[in-house]
Amino acid sequence: MAKLYVFAFAILFTCGSVIGQDDTTLAPVPDTTIIPDVPTTLPPPTEPPTVEPDTTTAEPEPETTLPPEPETTTAAPVPDTTTAPPAPVTTPAPEADYNYNITENNVTCIMIEGDVSFVVNYTAGNDTQIATITLPKHPMASTLISGTCNGTEGQENIKVTWGSTEQSNSVNLEFSQKADSWSIASFTANLFMDPKIFANGTDAGKTLSLVVDYGFSPLSVPVNHSYNCHSSLSAVNITATIGDEPYTLGVSSKLEGIHIQAFNMVPNEPDFVSSVHCSADEISDVVPIAVGCALAALVVIVLIAYLVGRRRRSAAYQSV
Ligand SMILES: *[C@@H]1O[C@H](CO)[C@@H](O)[C@H](O)[C@H]1NC(C)=O
Ligand SMILES: *[C@@H]1O[C@H](CO)[C@@H](O)[C@H](O)[C@H]1NC(C)=O
Ligand SMILES: *[C@@H]1O[C@H](CO)[C@@H](O)[C@H](O)[C@H]1NC(C)=O
Ligand SMILES: *[C@@H]1O[C@H](CO)[C@@H](O)[C@H](O)[C@H]1NC(C)=O
Ligand SMILES: *[C@@H]1O[C@H](CO)[C@@H](O)[C@H](O)[C@H]1NC(C)=O
Ligand SMILES: *[C@@H]1O[C@H](CO)[C@@H](O)[C@H](O)[C@H]1NC(C)=O
Ligand SMILES: *[C@@H]1O[C@H](CO)[C@@H](O)[C@H](O)[C@H]1NC(C)=O
Ligand SMILES: *[C@@H]1O[C@H](CO)[C@@H](O)[C@H](O)[C@H]1NC(C)=O
Repeated sequence: MAKLYVFAFAILFTCGSVIGQDDTTLAPVPDTTIIPDVPTTLPPPTEPPTVEPDTTTAEPEPETTLPPEPETTTAAPVPDTTTAPPAPVTTPAPEADYNYNITENNVTCIMIEGDVSFVVNYTAGNDTQIATITLPKHPMASTLISGTCNGTEGQENIKVTWGSTEQSNSVNLEFSQKADSWSIASFTANLFMDPKIFANGTDAGKTLSLVVDYGFSPLSVPVNHSYNCHSSLSAVNITATIGDEPYTLGVSSKLEGIHIQAFNMVPNEPDFVSSVHCSADEISDVVPIAVGCALAALVVIVLIAYLVGRRRRSAAYQSV
C-alpha cells in the first residue's frame, strides 16, 4: 500500500515537472525555448554545435525516485508510459526532401526547407476563381538561387527564382542580426499570374507582388541556431500589389514544416544546426502531455480507491 502511494506521488511529480518545464519554455525569452532537435535523415555532424541544447532544458530526471515495481500485477505496466522524456513526443520532422542554401567558404549560412504556398483569388469573367502557387519542391533547371552570407551591416538574404525570364516567380527572405540573435526581417514574393493557372483571369500575365507577415514567434533566434516549425503557419497580414496598384482580392499563404537558418557560422555542417521551435510547436506538445498525465493520475486514484475499499471490506469481515 505504501509503495502505491510513493508510486502515485512519483507519477504526479514527474508530470508536474514535465508540464512545469514546458511552461517555462513558453516564455518569450528565446534562449529558454531551445529544445533538442528531432534527428533528421542526414548523418550526424562531424563537429557538435557549440551550444549544448541539453543544458538549457535538462532537469534531473525523477526516474530515480520511482520505487521498485509493486507486486500487484495491475499496476505494473503504468510506469513505462509516464517516465518517458517529453522530447520524443514531438511529431517527427518531415523528410528533408529539398532545401535551398547559401554556402560560402564551407559555411552554410542560410538554409531553408519546407512547403511554401500561396492561394490567390482572382477575377475571371464575372466569377472569382482561386489559383495556388507553390515554391518548387526541388531546384529545377530554371531555378536560380542567389543571396549572400555577408551583406551590409548584419543583413543576409536568399532569393529563389523559378520560371522563365519573362515569366518568373520569386521568393525572397531577408534576415537581420542584432547582437547574438537573428530574425526574419522580410518575406516577399513576386508571382507571375500565368494564364495557364489564372485561366481567363482579368489580371493574367501580370505579376503580383506580396509582402507577407507570418507572425513568426519567437521573433528572434540565437546565432548558430535554426528556426523549426512542424506546425503550419498561416500569413497574418499580406500586402498585395500589381505594379503600384493594390490588389484587392483575397490572398493567403501557408508555411508547412518550415525550417530556416540564417547567420549560421558553424562550418562544414551540411545539416541544420540546433533548432529553436516555434511557439505553436511548444503549445502542441504541452496539451498531449498534460492529457496523458491527467489520465495516468486518474488510473492511480481509481486503483488506490479500489485497494482502500477492498482492505476496509476485508477488515469488516474479520471483525464479524
Ligand atoms: C572546405 O572544406 C574542405 C574539406 O573539408 C577543405 O579541404 C577546404 O580547405 C575548406 N575550404 C575552406 C575555404 O575552408
Ligand atoms: C457577366 O455579367 C454580365 C451582366 O450581368 C452579363 O451580361 C455577361 O454575359 C456575364 N459574362 C459572363 C462571361 O458570364
Ligand atoms: C563582409 O563585408 C564587409 C564589407 O561589405 C567586409 O569588410 C568584410 O570583410 C566581409 N566579411 C567577411 C567575413 O567576408
Ligand atoms: C475561358 O473562357 C473561354 C471563352 O470565354 C471558355 O471557353 C473557357 O471555358 C474558359 N475557361 C475557364 C477555365 O473558365
Ligand atoms: C499589414 O501590413 C501593412 C504594411 O506592411 C500595414 O500597413 C498594416 O497595418 C498591416 N495590417 C495589420 C492588420 O497588421
Ligand atoms: C477566396 O475565395 C474563396 C471562395 O470564393 C473565399 O472562401 C475566400 O474567403 C477568399 N479568400 C480571401 C482571403 O478572401
Ligand atoms: C557560432 O559558431 C562559430 C563557429 O563554431 C563560432 O566561432 C561563434 O563564436 C559562434 N557564435 C555564437 C554567438 O555562438
Ligand atoms: C546547397 O545547395 C546546392 C545547390 O542547390 C546543393 O548542391 C548542396 O547540396 C546544398 N548544400 C546543402 C548543405 O544542403
